[in-house]
Amino acid sequence: MHRSHTCGELRIDHVSQEVTLSGWVQRSRDLGGMTFVDLRDRYGITQLAFNMDSRAELCEQARKLGREFVIKATGTVIERSSKNKNIPTGEIEIDVTSLEVLNASKTPPFTIEDETDGGDDLRMQYRYLDLRRGPVMSNLMLRHRMSIESRKYLDSIGFMEVETPYLIKSTPEGARDFVVPSRMNPGQFYALPQSPQTFKQLLMVSGYDKYYQIVKCFRDEDLRADRQPEFTQIDCEMAFVEQEDVLNTFEGMVRHLFQEVKGIEVPEFPRMTYAEAMEQYGSDKPDIRFEMKFVDMAPVTKDKGFNVFDSAEAVLGIVAPGCAEYSRKQLDALTNFVKRPQIGAKGLVYCKVNADGTFKSSVDKFYSQEDQKAWMEHTGAKEGDLILMLSGDLDKTRKQLNELRLHMGSELGLRDPEVFKPLWVVDFPLLEWDEDTERYHAMHHPFTSPKPEHMDILESDPGKVNANAYDMVINGVEIGGGSIRIHDRGIQSRMFDLLGFTKEEALAQFGFLMNAFEYGAPPHGGLALGFDRLCSLFGGSDSIRDFIAFPKNNSGRDVMIDAPAPVDQAQLDELFLDSTAPQGEEV
Ligand code: AMO
Repeated sequence: MHRSHTCGELRIDHVSQEVTLSGWVQRSRDLGGMTFVDLRDRYGITQLAFNMDSRAELCEQARKLGREFVIKATGTVIERSSKNKNIPTGEIEIDVTSLEVLNASKTPPFTIEDETDGGDDLRMQYRYLDLRRGPVMSNLMLRHRMSIESRKYLDSIGFMEVETPYLIKSTPEGARDFVVPSRMNPGQFYALPQSPQTFKQLLMVSGYDKYYQIVKCFRDEDLRADRQPEFTQIDCEMAFVEQEDVLNTFEGMVRHLFQEVKGIEVPEFPRMTYAEAMEQYGSDKPDIRFEMKFVDMAPVTKDKGFNVFDSAEAVLGIVAPGCAEYSRKQLDALTNFVKRPQIGAKGLVYCKVNADGTFKSSVDKFYSQEDQKAWMEHTGAKEGDLILMLSGDLDKTRKQLNELRLHMGSELGLRDPEVFKPLWVVDFPLLEWDEDTERYHAMHHPFTSPKPEHMDILESDPGKVNANAYDMVINGVEIGGGSIRIHDRGIQSRMFDLLGFTKEEALAQFGFLMNAFEYGAPPHGGLALGFDRLCSLFGGSDSIRDFIAFPKNNSGRDVMIDAPAPVDQAQLDELFLDSTAPQGEEV
């Protein structure tokens, strides 16, 4: 027997019991007469005690144990003389009577402790050691709980999990596909799914009216803290539903998760239209943990001789509460922040609403105290506040001010990771214009249904058409998105026309779906939640990597197994692939 108990299990009630534990040596302390070893496993840490007087040989053996040795120890549970209140097993220790080394360990390249000395790269290279650390383990435990609770909830309301294939044909979710060559079909490729979108729609046609799947998706896109090339979705679809049914179902699920996993009661999610979100927050994923809504400053800033504002399409402002005391240095830092190339503003205009009722702005030359008082009244700023303004092209200015707003929110401590403010953003536009290709792209995906009341302007004014599409946003993170789908062949075909597909292209790529729509496709809709993002949000982290057992780095590499990697010429030949491309070089 390797163990009678785990290392997290024993308490004062177990005193006098003979037990056997197995685990890893976290640390050992040689105090002369006694040697103590902290034995660790997934469940906790238990102290092993070796007494030099009564069992000298065993004690000698214990002194030789290195960090991360795997051992088995048998002994009696005894009450500790000096108790450790910080760990659940801290009242007891094991008076060890026999010890067996199951496997030795090299000294690990970083300390396997909650606070480690290992850098990112090293920890990723030895991810199996990193995974032994408490915080990483508790992240994965959280992930496990989240998936169990999601499944329980969905099962309880009649959802059925169905697996869909990974070797498929391209689905257009907006990113590049990862492709897999087919040996049996020379020169042909599968694509790994960017999502199971078309399959879940086909399942609706088949009558599986409440489907879900916790599923891997693959997207070859630029990576960031909240993006991995392979990630997991809780993918869902329902038949015979309208938008409201979908929103209520998944709001219910996420509220259930908050309740069960975090013990938090979250109120009903507010709804905001895409247009409102853009106008008030300059973002389709607003962080509504704090106010600082955008104010259109054009009516109170134009025609006073300040050419920058006069010539701008938009002048937008926010009020930073209590920031009138900002020093020159702090204001310069804000200006530099918005001028960074990633944000790209040309400059920042500020106005301090001083506590004594006076005003001080960076544009005092153009605007009188009276003018600035009008700004205060227009924005609702109070004495002691700071008004910040950006101007230029509307879309760009919104994006820039969104960044500044989030930055100010962080600076002012208004983005507490333990406060959760979900909302639904609804009424997305169906299409977005792409300047580069000079054509419309589906904002969500081409299977999203236009709003029925906009059907008659679909061809005449496509830019004005809204969709029955929605996103779930929590704390400024897009957690999920979905839509009511097209279930009519004719409308789907019009949609492909709008997107610039020829009839032949549409048929070649999506003929299977359009054909299926002719065999009794029910009205349907659904969504997918980004499971990694949901877990990292619950865990209070910005990085989804911390919640994935074996993540890729920012260049899409797994540095532990060293993938991607070249393959043998023989393997390439078998797949009819040319090997002239440079191998192993990053693009
Ligand atoms: P969408 O493309 O919006 O919709 O994806 C759904 C959610 O998946 C998460 N997500 C990602 N998470 C980590 N890394 C990535 N690279 C990544 N890309 C997306 C986001 C996002 O909100 N088929 C549709 C859903 C539907 O219409 O039902 C879809 O995939 O949290």
